[in-house]
Amino acid sequence: MILSIDTSCDDTSAAVITLDSKVLSNIISSQTHIHTRFGGVVPELACRFHVEYIDEIVQQALDVAGVTIGDIQYVAPTIGPGLSPALLIGLTFAKGLAASQGITFLPIHHLEGHLLSPFVHGNNVPDHAVGLVISGGHTELYEVKGLFEYEKLGSTQDDAVGEAYDKVAKMLGLGYPGGPILEKRALDGNQKAIPFPRPMIKNKNCHFSFSGLKTAVMVYLRNNETYSEADVCASFQRAVLDTLISKSQRAVDETGANKLAVCGGVSCNQFLRNGLTDHFQKRGVETFFAQPEYCTDNAAMIGFVASKYVQQNRIYDQSRLETLDAHPNFTIATYHDLIFT
Ligand code: KG4
Ligand code: ZN
Repeated sequence: MILSIDTSCDDTSAAVITLDSKVLSNIISSQTHIHTRFGGVVPELACRFHVEYIDEIVQQALDVAGVTIGDIQYVAPTIGPGLSPALLIGLTFAKGLAASQGITFLPIHHLEGHLLSPFVHGNNVPDHAVGLVISGGHTELYEVKGLFEYEKLGSTQDDAVGEAYDKVAKMLGLGYPGGPILEKRALDGNQKAIPFPRPMIKNKNCHFSFSGLKTAVMVYLRNNETYSEADVCASFQRAVLDTLISKSQRAVDETGANKLAVCGGVSCNQFLRNGLTDHFQKRGVETFFAQPEYCTDNAAMIGFVASKYVQQNRIYDQSRLETLDAHPNFTIATYHDLIFT
Protein backbone atom coordinates (compact mmCIF):
# COMPACT_ATOMS: atom_id res chain seq x y z
CA MET A 1 0.00 0.00 0.00
CA ILE A 2 1.03 3.58 -0.65
CA LEU A 3 0.01 6.58 1.44
CA SER A 4 0.18 9.74 -0.70
CA ILE A 5 -0.07 13.34 0.50
CA ASP A 6 -0.63 16.60 -1.37
CA THR A 7 -0.32 19.99 0.35
CA SER A 8 0.90 21.94 -2.69
CA CYS A 9 -1.62 24.77 -2.44
CA ASP A 10 -4.77 25.25 -0.40
CA ASP A 11 -6.18 21.71 -0.16
CA THR A 12 -4.96 19.16 2.37
CA SER A 13 -5.26 15.74 0.78
CA ALA A 14 -4.23 12.17 1.61
CA ALA A 15 -4.97 8.93 -0.23
CA VAL A 16 -4.28 5.23 0.07
CA ILE A 17 -3.59 3.32 -3.13
CA THR A 18 -2.54 -0.27 -3.72
CA LEU A 19 0.74 -1.19 -5.41
CA ASP A 20 -1.28 -2.17 -8.49
CA SER A 21 -2.76 1.36 -8.64
CA LYS A 22 -6.24 0.93 -7.15
CA VAL A 23 -7.42 3.94 -5.17
CA LEU A 24 -8.81 2.83 -1.78
CA SER A 25 -9.37 6.32 -0.37
CA ASN A 26 -8.90 9.93 -1.45
CA ILE A 27 -9.64 12.50 1.25
CA ILE A 28 -9.58 16.16 0.24
CA SER A 29 -10.08 18.86 2.81
CA SER A 30 -10.86 22.08 0.98
CA GLN A 31 -9.88 25.44 2.47
CA THR A 32 -12.06 27.43 0.07
CA HIS A 33 -14.24 28.76 2.90
CA ILE A 34 -11.12 30.20 4.59
CA HIS A 35 -9.75 32.00 1.52
CA THR A 36 -13.08 33.18 0.07
CA ARG A 37 -13.17 36.45 2.00
CA PHE A 38 -9.68 37.34 0.72
CA GLY A 39 -10.60 36.57 -2.91
CA GLY A 40 -7.60 34.24 -3.31
CA VAL A 41 -5.27 31.83 -1.53
CA VAL A 42 -3.39 33.37 1.43
CA PRO A 43 -0.24 31.22 1.81
CA GLU A 44 0.14 31.77 5.59
CA LEU A 45 -3.45 30.70 6.22
CA ALA A 46 -3.05 27.70 3.91
CA CYS A 47 -0.06 26.56 5.99
CA ARG A 48 -1.82 26.99 9.29
CA PHE A 49 -4.69 24.88 8.00
CA HIS A 50 -2.38 22.14 6.66
CA VAL A 51 -0.58 21.93 10.01
CA GLU A 52 -3.85 21.75 11.93
CA TYR A 53 -5.53 19.09 9.80
CA ILE A 54 -2.87 16.90 8.22
CA ASP A 55 -2.94 14.30 11.03
CA GLU A 56 -6.69 14.00 10.84
CA ILE A 57 -6.79 13.82 7.01
CA VAL A 58 -4.14 11.08 6.92
CA GLN A 59 -6.02 9.13 9.60
CA GLN A 60 -9.25 9.46 7.62
CA ALA A 61 -7.50 8.20 4.47
CA LEU A 62 -6.29 5.14 6.39
CA ASP A 63 -9.70 4.56 7.99
CA VAL A 64 -11.67 4.82 4.74
CA ALA A 65 -9.21 2.44 3.07
CA GLY A 66 -9.64 0.05 6.01
CA VAL A 67 -5.91 -0.13 6.75
CA THR A 68 -3.53 0.96 9.51
CA ILE A 69 -0.18 2.72 9.23
CA GLY A 70 1.46 -0.70 9.68
CA ASP A 71 0.07 -1.73 6.27
CA ILE A 72 1.76 1.17 4.48
CA GLN A 73 4.99 0.37 2.60
CA TYR A 74 5.52 3.69 0.78
CA VAL A 75 4.78 7.28 1.69
CA ALA A 76 4.56 9.59 -1.33
CA PRO A 77 4.24 13.34 -0.75
CA THR A 78 4.18 16.08 -3.40
CA ILE A 79 7.64 17.70 -3.47
CA GLY A 80 6.67 20.52 -5.90
CA PRO A 81 5.75 22.69 -7.66
CA GLY A 82 3.46 24.69 -5.38
CA LEU A 83 3.58 27.11 -2.47
CA SER A 84 6.89 26.47 -0.74
CA PRO A 85 5.76 26.58 2.93
CA ALA A 86 2.64 24.53 2.11
CA LEU A 87 4.67 21.87 0.31
CA LEU A 88 7.04 21.67 3.29
CA ILE A 89 4.24 20.63 5.61
CA GLY A 90 3.32 17.53 3.59
CA LEU A 91 6.96 16.75 2.94
CA THR A 92 8.00 17.05 6.59
CA PHE A 93 5.02 15.02 7.76
CA ALA A 94 5.93 12.26 5.27
CA LYS A 95 9.59 12.37 6.33
CA GLY A 96 8.48 11.92 9.92
CA LEU A 97 6.38 8.89 9.01
CA ALA A 98 9.20 7.39 6.97
CA ALA A 99 11.65 7.79 9.85
CA SER A 100 9.36 6.69 12.68
CA GLN A 101 7.62 3.80 10.90
CA GLY A 102 10.38 2.58 8.59
CA ILE A 103 8.28 3.37 5.50
CA THR A 104 9.99 3.94 2.14
CA PHE A 105 9.81 7.57 1.00
CA LEU A 106 8.98 8.46 -2.62
CA PRO A 107 8.57 12.18 -3.50
CA ILE A 108 6.28 12.99 -6.45
CA HIS A 109 6.03 15.91 -8.92
CA HIS A 110 2.62 17.61 -8.73
CA LEU A 111 2.28 18.08 -12.51
CA GLU A 112 3.09 14.45 -13.21
CA GLY A 113 0.16 13.70 -10.91
CA HIS A 114 -2.13 16.00 -12.89
CA LEU A 115 -0.88 14.66 -16.25
CA LEU A 116 -1.68 11.05 -15.36
CA SER A 117 -4.92 11.87 -13.48
CA PRO A 118 -7.18 11.18 -16.52
CA PHE A 119 -5.93 7.57 -16.40
CA VAL A 120 -6.39 6.89 -12.67
CA HIS A 121 -9.90 5.39 -12.93
CA GLY A 122 -9.05 3.24 -15.98
CA ASN A 123 -5.56 2.35 -14.64
CA ASN A 124 -4.11 2.35 -18.13
CA VAL A 125 -1.61 4.97 -19.34
CA PRO A 126 -1.40 5.08 -23.18
CA ASP A 127 1.94 4.94 -24.98
CA HIS A 128 1.41 8.24 -26.74
CA ALA A 129 -0.86 11.20 -26.00
CA VAL A 130 -0.99 14.95 -25.73
CA GLY A 131 -1.54 16.16 -22.16
CA LEU A 132 -3.28 19.49 -21.54
CA VAL A 133 -2.95 20.80 -17.97
CA ILE A 134 -5.46 23.56 -17.16
CA SER A 135 -5.46 24.61 -13.52
CA GLY A 136 -5.25 27.64 -11.26
CA GLY A 137 -1.47 27.71 -11.44
CA HIS A 138 -0.66 26.02 -14.76
CA THR A 139 -1.64 25.99 -18.43
CA GLU A 140 0.68 23.65 -20.28
CA LEU A 141 0.80 21.21 -23.17
CA TYR A 142 2.95 18.08 -23.04
CA GLU A 143 3.70 15.19 -25.29
CA VAL A 144 3.23 12.12 -23.07
CA LYS A 145 5.38 9.31 -24.45
CA GLY A 146 4.12 6.64 -22.08
CA LEU A 147 5.07 6.52 -18.43
CA PHE A 148 7.72 8.92 -17.17
CA GLU A 149 8.56 10.49 -20.52
CA TYR A 150 7.11 13.90 -21.09
CA GLU A 151 8.11 16.66 -23.42
CA LYS A 152 6.83 20.12 -22.70
CA LEU A 153 5.39 21.65 -25.87
CA GLY A 154 4.18 24.96 -24.53
CA SER A 155 2.92 26.88 -21.53
CA THR A 156 1.26 30.13 -20.60
CA GLN A 157 3.40 33.23 -20.97
CA ASP A 158 1.46 35.01 -18.21
CA ASP A 159 -1.78 34.01 -16.42
CA ALA A 160 -2.96 30.42 -16.08
CA VAL A 161 -6.43 29.75 -17.45
CA GLY A 162 -7.90 29.11 -13.95
CA GLU A 163 -6.39 32.39 -12.80
CA ALA A 164 -8.14 34.17 -15.70
CA TYR A 165 -11.45 32.53 -14.73
CA ASP A 166 -10.98 33.60 -11.11
CA LYS A 167 -10.00 37.19 -12.02
CA VAL A 168 -12.86 37.68 -14.48
CA ALA A 169 -15.29 36.28 -11.90
CA LYS A 170 -13.86 38.72 -9.36
CA MET A 171 -14.38 41.68 -11.75
CA LEU A 172 -17.99 40.60 -12.08
CA GLY A 173 -18.32 40.22 -8.30
CA LEU A 174 -19.25 36.54 -8.65
CA GLY A 175 -17.21 35.26 -5.69
CA TYR A 176 -14.31 32.85 -5.22
CA PRO A 177 -13.22 30.46 -6.61
CA GLY A 178 -14.67 32.01 -9.74
CA GLY A 179 -14.34 29.16 -12.26
CA PRO A 180 -17.37 27.07 -11.29
CA ILE A 181 -19.58 30.13 -10.62
CA LEU A 182 -18.65 31.72 -13.95
CA GLU A 183 -19.45 28.46 -15.75
CA LYS A 184 -22.96 28.45 -14.21
CA ARG A 185 -23.59 32.11 -15.06
CA ALA A 186 -22.55 31.46 -18.67
CA LEU A 187 -25.38 28.95 -19.12
CA ASP A 188 -27.88 31.81 -19.63
CA GLY A 189 -25.59 33.82 -21.93
CA ASN A 190 -24.82 34.11 -25.63
CA GLN A 191 -21.31 32.89 -26.56
CA LYS A 192 -21.25 35.12 -29.63
CA ALA A 193 -22.43 38.32 -27.92
CA ILE A 194 -18.98 39.86 -27.34
CA PRO A 195 -15.96 39.26 -29.63
CA PHE A 196 -13.26 38.85 -26.97
CA PRO A 197 -9.78 38.10 -28.36
CA ARG A 198 -8.35 34.58 -28.74
CA PRO A 199 -4.82 35.39 -27.53
CA MET A 200 -1.83 34.02 -29.48
CA ILE A 201 -4.11 31.79 -31.52
CA LYS A 202 -2.32 32.73 -34.75
CA ASN A 203 1.19 32.15 -33.36
CA LYS A 204 2.67 28.96 -34.72
CA ASN A 205 3.53 27.45 -31.34
CA CYS A 206 1.87 25.74 -28.37
CA HIS A 207 2.19 28.67 -25.95
CA PHE A 208 -0.75 30.40 -24.32
CA SER A 209 -1.50 33.86 -22.97
CA PHE A 210 -4.57 34.73 -20.94
CA SER A 211 -3.78 38.14 -19.47
CA GLY A 212 -4.87 39.94 -22.67
CA LEU A 213 -8.23 38.19 -22.59
CA LYS A 214 -8.65 39.15 -18.93
CA THR A 215 -7.78 42.76 -19.76
CA ALA A 216 -10.23 42.75 -22.70
CA VAL A 217 -13.01 41.75 -20.30
CA MET A 218 -11.94 44.51 -17.88
CA VAL A 219 -11.97 47.14 -20.67
CA TYR A 220 -15.37 45.92 -21.88
CA LEU A 221 -16.85 46.22 -18.38
CA ARG A 222 -15.34 49.68 -17.96
CA ASN A 223 -16.65 50.94 -21.32
CA ASN A 224 -20.19 49.65 -20.96
CA GLU A 225 -22.44 51.05 -18.30
CA THR A 226 -24.88 48.21 -18.73
CA TYR A 227 -24.10 44.73 -19.94
CA SER A 228 -25.37 41.20 -19.62
CA GLU A 229 -23.28 39.39 -17.03
CA ALA A 230 -24.28 36.04 -18.56
CA ASP A 231 -23.16 37.18 -22.04
CA VAL A 232 -19.77 38.29 -20.67
CA CYS A 233 -19.32 34.88 -19.01
CA ALA A 234 -20.45 32.92 -22.08
CA SER A 235 -18.32 34.98 -24.49
CA PHE A 236 -15.28 34.71 -22.19
CA GLN A 237 -15.69 30.92 -22.00
CA ARG A 238 -16.01 30.68 -25.78
CA ALA A 239 -12.73 32.60 -26.20
CA VAL A 240 -11.04 30.24 -23.71
CA LEU A 241 -12.42 27.16 -25.48
CA ASP A 242 -11.36 28.34 -28.95
CA THR A 243 -7.86 29.01 -27.63
CA LEU A 244 -7.57 25.61 -25.92
CA ILE A 245 -8.87 23.83 -29.04
CA SER A 246 -6.50 25.68 -31.36
CA LYS A 247 -3.37 25.08 -29.25
CA SER A 248 -4.25 21.44 -28.48
CA GLN A 249 -4.88 20.82 -32.19
CA ARG A 250 -1.43 22.24 -32.94
CA ALA A 251 0.08 19.89 -30.33
CA VAL A 252 -1.77 16.91 -31.83
CA ASP A 253 -0.58 17.86 -35.33
CA GLU A 254 3.03 18.38 -34.18
CA THR A 255 3.24 15.08 -32.30
CA GLY A 256 0.99 12.86 -34.41
CA ALA A 257 -0.75 11.66 -31.22
CA ASN A 258 -4.35 10.48 -31.51
CA LYS A 259 -5.19 10.91 -27.84
CA LEU A 260 -5.73 14.08 -25.79
CA ALA A 261 -5.73 13.87 -21.98
CA VAL A 262 -7.11 16.93 -20.18
CA CYS A 263 -6.51 17.54 -16.49
CA GLY A 264 -6.38 20.17 -13.72
CA GLY A 265 -9.09 22.08 -11.85
CA VAL A 266 -10.43 23.87 -14.93
CA SER A 267 -11.09 20.53 -16.61
CA CYS A 268 -14.09 20.15 -14.25
CA ASN A 269 -15.75 22.62 -16.61
CA GLN A 270 -18.45 20.83 -18.59
CA PHE A 271 -18.64 23.45 -21.34
CA LEU A 272 -14.90 23.07 -22.04
CA ARG A 273 -15.15 19.26 -21.82
CA ASN A 274 -18.00 19.15 -24.32
CA GLY A 275 -16.31 21.62 -26.67
CA LEU A 276 -12.97 19.78 -26.66
CA THR A 277 -14.63 16.36 -27.02
CA ASP A 278 -16.81 17.56 -29.87
CA HIS A 279 -13.89 19.09 -31.79
CA PHE A 280 -11.46 16.20 -31.36
CA GLN A 281 -13.93 13.34 -31.82
CA LYS A 282 -14.73 14.66 -35.28
CA ARG A 283 -11.02 14.48 -36.09
CA GLY A 284 -10.41 10.95 -34.79
CA VAL A 285 -8.64 12.04 -31.60
CA GLU A 286 -9.82 10.28 -28.44
CA THR A 287 -10.27 12.56 -25.43
CA PHE A 288 -9.65 11.57 -21.80
CA PHE A 289 -10.70 13.66 -18.81
CA ALA A 290 -9.89 13.13 -15.16
CA GLN A 291 -12.88 12.14 -13.04
CA PRO A 292 -14.10 15.22 -11.10
CA GLU A 293 -12.48 14.11 -7.79
CA TYR A 294 -9.14 13.81 -9.62
CA CYS A 295 -9.35 17.18 -11.45
CA THR A 296 -8.59 19.63 -8.65
CA ASP A 297 -5.65 19.01 -6.34
CA ASN A 298 -5.84 15.55 -4.78
CA ALA A 299 -3.52 12.94 -3.33
CA ALA A 300 -4.93 10.01 -5.36
CA MET A 301 -3.22 11.25 -8.54
CA ILE A 302 0.06 11.56 -6.58
CA GLY A 303 -0.33 8.00 -5.26
CA PHE A 304 -1.15 6.76 -8.76
CA VAL A 305 2.17 8.09 -10.09
CA ALA A 306 3.98 6.64 -7.06
CA SER A 307 2.46 3.21 -7.75
CA LYS A 308 3.74 3.35 -11.34
CA TYR A 309 7.24 4.16 -10.06
CA VAL A 310 7.12 1.26 -7.61
CA GLN A 311 5.87 -1.10 -10.35
CA GLN A 312 8.96 -0.20 -12.39
CA ASN A 313 11.31 -0.39 -9.42
CA ARG A 314 12.17 3.29 -9.50
CA ILE A 315 12.81 3.94 -5.83
CA TYR A 316 14.28 7.05 -4.25
CA ASP A 317 17.67 6.67 -2.52
CA GLN A 318 16.65 6.91 1.16
CA SER A 319 20.10 8.05 2.28
CA ARG A 320 19.42 11.43 0.58
CA LEU A 321 16.14 11.95 2.39
CA GLU A 322 17.37 14.14 5.21
CA THR A 323 18.57 16.93 2.92
CA LEU A 324 15.63 16.74 0.51
CA ASP A 325 13.80 20.06 0.27
CA ALA A 326 10.53 21.26 -1.29
CA HIS A 327 10.84 22.55 -4.87
CA PRO A 328 8.23 25.24 -5.51
CA ASN A 329 9.21 25.82 -9.16
CA PHE A 330 10.82 22.81 -10.75
CA THR A 331 9.99 21.09 -14.03
CA ILE A 332 9.22 17.39 -14.44
CA ALA A 333 12.56 16.94 -16.23
CA THR A 334 14.49 18.53 -13.34
CA TYR A 335 12.53 16.37 -10.89
CA HIS A 336 13.47 13.16 -12.73
CA ASP A 337 17.15 14.19 -12.73
CA LEU A 338 17.09 15.13 -9.04
CA ILE A 339 15.23 12.12 -7.69
CA PHE A 340 16.29 9.23 -9.87
CA THR A 341 19.92 9.91 -10.79
O1 KG4 B 1 -6.01 22.13 -10.12
P1 KG4 B 1 -6.47 23.16 -9.14
O2 KG4 B 1 -7.21 22.67 -7.93
O3 KG4 B 1 -5.30 24.02 -8.58
C1 KG4 B 1 -4.04 24.16 -9.09
O4 KG4 B 1 -3.21 23.21 -8.99
O5 KG4 B 1 -3.79 25.26 -9.64
O6 KG4 B 1 -7.36 24.21 -9.96
C2 KG4 B 1 -8.04 25.27 -9.35
C3 KG4 B 1 -8.60 26.15 -10.45
C4 KG4 B 1 -9.23 27.45 -9.93
O7 KG4 B 1 -8.73 28.53 -10.69
C5 KG4 B 1 -10.73 27.24 -10.20
O8 KG4 B 1 -11.43 28.45 -10.46
C6 KG4 B 1 -10.68 26.37 -11.43
O9 KG4 B 1 -9.63 25.46 -11.18
N1 KG4 B 1 -11.95 25.64 -11.65
C7 KG4 B 1 -12.75 25.87 -12.71
C8 KG4 B 1 -13.89 25.05 -12.54
N2 KG4 B 1 -13.73 24.33 -11.39
C9 KG4 B 1 -12.53 24.71 -10.85
N3 KG4 B 1 -12.61 26.70 -13.76
C10 KG4 B 1 -13.59 26.72 -14.67
N4 KG4 B 1 -14.73 25.97 -14.56
C11 KG4 B 1 -14.91 25.12 -13.54
N5 KG4 B 1 -16.02 24.38 -13.45
ZN1 ZN C 1 -2.66 21.34 -9.04
